[in-house]
Amino acid sequence: MNLDRKTFLRTAVLAPAALAAGARAATAAAPAPALPAYDAREPERFWQAVRDLYPLTKDRVYLNTGGLGPASRPALDAMAATTAKLQETGEHGHGQFAGFRATVAAFLGADPAGLAFVRNATEGNATVAAGLQLQAGDEVIFDDHAHPGGSFGWYQQARLRGLTVKLFTPDPGDPATNLARIAALVTPRTRAVQVSHITAPTGIVLPVADIARLCRERGIWFHIDGAQSAGMLPFSLREIGCDSFATSGHKWLGAPHETGVLYVRPDRLDAVAPLLVGAYSGDLDFLPGEFKLAPTALRYEYGTRNVAAAAGLAAAVQLQEKVGRERIAARGRELAGRVHAGLARIAGVEVLSPTHPAASSAMVTFRSAKVPQDTMFSRLLKEHAFRCRPVTEQKINAVRVSLHVFNSPAECDRLVAATAKITGAA
Ligand SMILES: Cc1ncc(COP(=O)(O)O)c(C=O)c1O
Repeated sequence: MNLDRKTFLRTAVLAPAALAAGARAATAAAPAPALPAYDAREPERFWQAVRDLYPLTKDRVYLNTGGLGPASRPALDAMAATTAKLQETGEHGHGQFAGFRATVAAFLGADPAGLAFVRNATEGNATVAAGLQLQAGDEVIFDDHAHPGGSFGWYQQARLRGLTVKLFTPDPGDPATNLARIAALVTPRTRAVQVSHITAPTGIVLPVADIARLCRERGIWFHIDGAQSAGMLPFSLREIGCDSFATSGHKWLGAPHETGVLYVRPDRLDAVAPLLVGAYSGDLDFLPGEFKLAPTALRYEYGTRNVAAAAGLAAAVQLQEKVGRERIAARGRELAGRVHAGLARIAGVEVLSPTHPAASSAMVTFRSAKVPQDTMFSRLLKEHAFRCRPVTEQKINAVRVSLHVFNSPAECDRLVAATAKITGAA
């Protein structure tokens, strides 16, 4: 037997015991420190306490929440404690979902009957694209900055069913321009519109409530890919008035990996057929017989699930409520504004993200006329320990910086100084 195989077998045998021990250790460890009350005279003290709730390494500065957000201690502890408890009894714990569903639904301003736990935003988006069961010649409109997790589901439907994809380019300026660009593409064959609530490449906030109104007036399904918005901005799905929405937990919400939700308006659930069904999706008392889908979004959940992940997601949103959702949004904008202003002062640097207050977010994307984006990305990482994200979509060729609750004004200033140095401006 070679060494690799021996190591594999030993690890495989030990893994469950080691996992349970790890889970016990996590629950036995000191609880995450309490958050002090926010004091406007000493804001950085509060934000340092928030930072201390993230086990992120201090060896580098994490600026890629838009790619993958690190989970907070409360979220990880809730997941570990739930895992440990369930493994002690061997039960699946599905009865706990209702409480977690209510917590997450309240956070999103949504009816819990419309909310399903899914693995990520991709699964939620793809469920809507396939579940609407559009026909050849039907048209769907979405932004050409859509992430593959938002666009591929529709392209797959274009291949399978022959529907037509129409794209608009999101404008970083006045949000009304984006509404007009969508309206200009609408025809009598338009069946669905999807937008990134906040676009991934350059962080443009799209006017979702206005787009929802436009779609409602024309009888068009409106789906929001909220992978970048949940946890960055406060909003209520009820107020926005969309038909469906999907997001990941593992970005701005700071929930464990492979967490996400799909929301479909409860009165329109029958319009989105589930892709996969099984135990929990519905009822079939005996075979043969009539299979009935669950009357709620439970129809999108099937088979045995990881309740501990949902526990982590619920704890993550509770932490966001504790920090303050408006405060989180304001902090993100403040830090992003600081980076934006600093970068814009560097000769030869172009900032592509919006300045319009209704369109700007906590992400800033920039490029240098002198330094290619891959060089900029790797030098920021290797020489200055900033983990950003290269942006190659639509040949934008830039670097994206995501600013979240664990980042500080001092880090923003150091990033600007490092960029100036790399471009030769300092
Ligand atoms: C707008 C958007 N949609 C979807 C996704 C895919 O997210 P996930 O991998 O969690 O499904 C991303 C990831 O960056 C994104 O930015």
